Amino acid sequence: MTDASAGRWDSSYHAPVMVEQVVALFSGAKEILDCTLGGGGHSEALLSSGSSVVALDRDETAILEARKRLASSETSGRFLAIRGNFAEIDRLPKLRDRSFNGILADLGVSSHQIDADERGFSFRPGALLDMRMDRRSTTTAADLLNSLDEADLSQIFRDYGDEPRANRLAREIVRRRERRPMHVSDDLVDAIRGAFGARMGPGDFARLFQAVRIAVNDELHALERALPLLRDRLKPSGILAVIAYHSGEDRLVKHTMREWSLACICPPKQLQCTCRGHALGELITKRAIIASDEERTINPRSRSARLRAWRTAA
Ligand SMILES: C[S@@+](CC[C@H](N)C(=O)[O-])C[C@H]1O[C@@H](n2cnc3c(N)ncnc32)[C@H](O)[C@@H]1O
Repeated sequence: MTDASAGRWDSSYHAPVMVEQVVALFSGAKEILDCTLGGGGHSEALLSSGSSVVALDRDETAILEARKRLASSETSGRFLAIRGNFAEIDRLPKLRDRSFNGILADLGVSSHQIDADERGFSFRPGALLDMRMDRRSTTTAADLLNSLDEADLSQIFRDYGDEPRANRLAREIVRRRERRPMHVSDDLVDAIRGAFGARMGPGDFARLFQAVRIAVNDELHALERALPLLRDRLKPSGILAVIAYHSGEDRLVKHTMREWSLACICPPKQLQCTCRGHALGELITKRAIIASDEERTINPRSRSARLRAWRTAA
């Protein structure tokens, strides 16, 4: 499959994925909430298609950069950027009583966050172990790695990093930090090599660093809290679309959207229905949408992306 538009909305900050598919899903939507502004690529494409956009990001740098990119839309009143966590949409005064025809969440981190060494998301040598999306929060990756007990560390690598030998890595981190606290990326890379051998490579580091990042930003819990809050901000027939890059996040989105689409959620053996007794809406994507071959070639980040969408009742 070819995708002539792949790359069109890229900036030096971030290359957004599956933009045309997102725009097509929200076709005709008057007001859209972009929960993850990042470099503003999706927002700009949605503005170009005629929608107004309110956008959120936890990261101040994303807000500042995207506001520059979308300054003319902001001036004309079609775009508003708000710094905040989409899991706390119920606590954001500017969003009180607001509902939308479409809501987009493009999860994870932007390329800029990974590329900026001082943000500490990358495993490039010497990068600080920080990984906070919102730098107002006080717990860095180094703080977690230096303070959690072995069982909690192991759970992070197993649950968020799909690491079957998570215990071994957790033990290695605890052993090393007793001599010298974890401080820079090299400390975690050395612990991974110490636990699993020198053959560990960039793919392993990316997966295990991502597990720490998910823990630092509490990303799965944020998504779990956010999904029903976002659903309840949809106008009738409004669409919620989520792009996930991590299997645990995609699973959560898939199961949640399926559950909302069932008329009955009573236990299977119960004879009489006592639940809500009607579906809250319908799944638009029976299977996740994935990036075109061309986009996967141009933008390797798009290879793990899974887009799912759900429409609330009319
Ligand atoms: C994949 S990037 C989004 C890229 C964006 N769609 C674009 O077109 O450039 C994810 C962004 O979501 C932000 N983010 C992640 N979790 C968030 C949350 N719980 N609340 C608000 N923003 C979040 C990150 O800071 C990052 O800037």
